[in-house]
Amino acid sequence: MDERRKPLIAGNWKMNLDLAGATTLAREVLQRTARMRTADICVLPASPLIQAVAKVLEGSAVGFGGQDISPEEEGAFTGDINARMLLSLGCQYVCIGHSERREFHLETDESVRAKTGRALASGLIPIVCVGERLAERDSGATFQRIERQITVGLGGLSSEEMARVVVAYEPVWAIGTGRTATPAQAEEVHEYIRKLLAGMFGEVIASRTRILYGGSVKPGNARELMGQKDVDGALVGGASLSAESFAGIVECTG
Ligand code: PGA
Repeated sequence: MDERRKPLIAGNWKMNLDLAGATTLAREVLQRTARMRTADICVLPASPLIQAVAKVLEGSAVGFGGQDISPEEEGAFTGDINARMLLSLGCQYVCIGHSERREFHLETDESVRAKTGRALASGLIPIVCVGERLAERDSGATFQRIERQITVGLGGLSSEEMARVVVAYEPVWAIGTGRTATPAQAEEVHEYIRKLLAGMFGEVIASRTRILYGGSVKPGNARELMGQKDVDGALVGGASLSAESFAGIVECTG
């Protein structure tokens, strides 16, 4: 981590919990992180649960957001939700291009770009996910994959827009598998992403952009991962479903 960048720990609750469970977890996260000031914190509940979580977190230092948005403004798009809906619930963040969206909903780098633009235009902070699959890593195509995800997914944004983007590097083979990238593997890609951003938006924006690591982050490995120069926090899946382990990860930023 670099002192110029305040770490962000984001809990991606995915398609888990229900109304009661989400409310309880939000309360516990609030309690356990109440005195932690070394990171920005947010949780990303499933859409129908956001309003209840918002009630619990309102006015606190714990932010919240959605797991996806439509690139469209509004209209006949059954099942989708738009930026305005998230904003009206008080959301500050939205996750975009998560590998599960790419895999199960056929999202592309182009749709990631459209969604990112929509989020920024609405005032949401997009957490834009990139990451290679195992076959890509094994065949030496990691950097090529990341380059396309970054140059297309964030291509053409203005510097002002890019200044509000958070990037999350999540190697697909490390998500939910218990198999974390080594700190060196993570740092290598984070550094590469920052170089790409410097080429696209200049050194100043690149040096200010928060690049989170995601993929089986736990209290036991978070400190070493976030100790890397270009790792500015974590996007946490499984371990964010327990307030104790989530707060344990936040603690690693102190
Ligand atoms: P995981 O998920 O922490 O369960 O590996 C991370 C993510 O998908 O954001």
